Amino acid sequence: MTASFTLDPVELAAVVASLDDATAPVTAAWSLPPACYTSESFYAFEREAVFGRSWLGLGRLEQIPAPGDWFSIEVAGEPLLVVRGAGQEVHVLSNVCTHRQHLIAEGTGHVDRYFRCPLHSWAFERDGTLAHPAGMQDTEGFDRADWCLPRLRAEVWHGFIFANHDPEAAPLAPSLAKLEPEAEAYGLADLVTTEPWDTDVLPWNWKTMHEGGIEPFHSHFLHKGLHEFAPWADFHEFEPGDGAVTHYTRFREPDQSFNPIYRTLLPVFPGLDEERRQRVMFVAMLPTLYFGFMPDHVFWLLVLPESAGSIRLRQGYLVHPDARDVPNFDHRIEWIADGLSAYFRDDATANASTQRGRASRYARRGRYASEEQPLPMVNRWLAERYRAGYRKLVPEQAATFRPRLVAP
Ligand code: FES
Ligand SMILES: [Fe+2]
Repeated sequence: MTASFTLDPVELAAVVASLDDATAPVTAAWSLPPACYTSESFYAFEREAVFGRSWLGLGRLEQIPAPGDWFSIEVAGEPLLVVRGAGQEVHVLSNVCTHRQHLIAEGTGHVDRYFRCPLHSWAFERDGTLAHPAGMQDTEGFDRADWCLPRLRAEVWHGFIFANHDPEAAPLAPSLAKLEPEAEAYGLADLVTTEPWDTDVLPWNWKTMHEGGIEPFHSHFLHKGLHEFAPWADFHEFEPGDGAVTHYTRFREPDQSFNPIYRTLLPVFPGLDEERRQRVMFVAMLPTLYFGFMPDHVFWLLVLPESAGSIRLRQGYLVHPDARDVPNFDHRIEWIADGLSAYFRDDATANASTQRGRASRYARRGRYASEEQPLPMVNRWLAERYRAGYRKLVPEQAATFRPRLVAP
């Protein structure tokens, strides 16, 4: 990808210098500099170093069951089209017309053969091949083979569709190997999603969304009362190369859930042992996908940055295919959504508040409580990409730069 942004080298160097502290064990760690959450210059760096080089969760296979089915999505300023090809393969294409940059298609739909750009009707195959470039017969040196839609590398992990802008990226699945037993136990590949829906723009940084979802410490306070049924958190170690940060929280009893009656509302997944029936496992597959394994459903959301200080979310629920036959299925899904939205409202208020706080001249790097240990793990996932991006994008500074401890 081309580096089309303005770097602030001083700010970037300060962030790189902060990474040793930020990735230390929780008892010694410091949070990232507040500018990492508020600076548009730093977000521009992340668009390349993180979103330009990581596996981006984009949705589920069930959203595009038949050849020609498609949906659009925009991730950190990149409009994309996710399409089922003739042989059931998944294509992830740039959604930007190679003629004069009109977006090819927005929303969801089906094409029998071609996408037609609305502006001048150029026709693209479902794999991005330009089939009919209207009106170009007199244009000198025009070869339609040069004007196909860029196609990203795509990978499917247990029904979740991922893509990567970086053709050199290591495959995704090995980085998620630790989660294989969970995915198998919940039958993740065979679950089906409810129709995903998008939120409006929300006023906080994309990392804040994952941090709020993956650290259990705030639940005792921000969600006081609501969270009493699920008081015990436990952690997994995060090792270099891991593609996800996880933690789980145990319920007081089996088959509990985040809703006003604290009980599962759908049949419990058949493959769960006693332990899994009594816990929720939260998974942050940074930078976009976040989900939670519950005993009867998996809630999932995509964190889609719009700027340093804003995101949209796309959300859905995965259920067992047979669960749709349960009486009042739609109402039960609404109750699940209502239940989770009580927590989300608390989290939204807190996320918006910290976003404002981080813009203050008095905002400092913070220390962590031991129950916040997933946060330095998130920092470790980020630091791998920040360091690599810094070496690649600012080679002259990186060559001479010696990390030093910056005053927090
Ligand atoms: S911009 Fe798409 S055909 Fe002209
Ligand atoms: Fe929360």
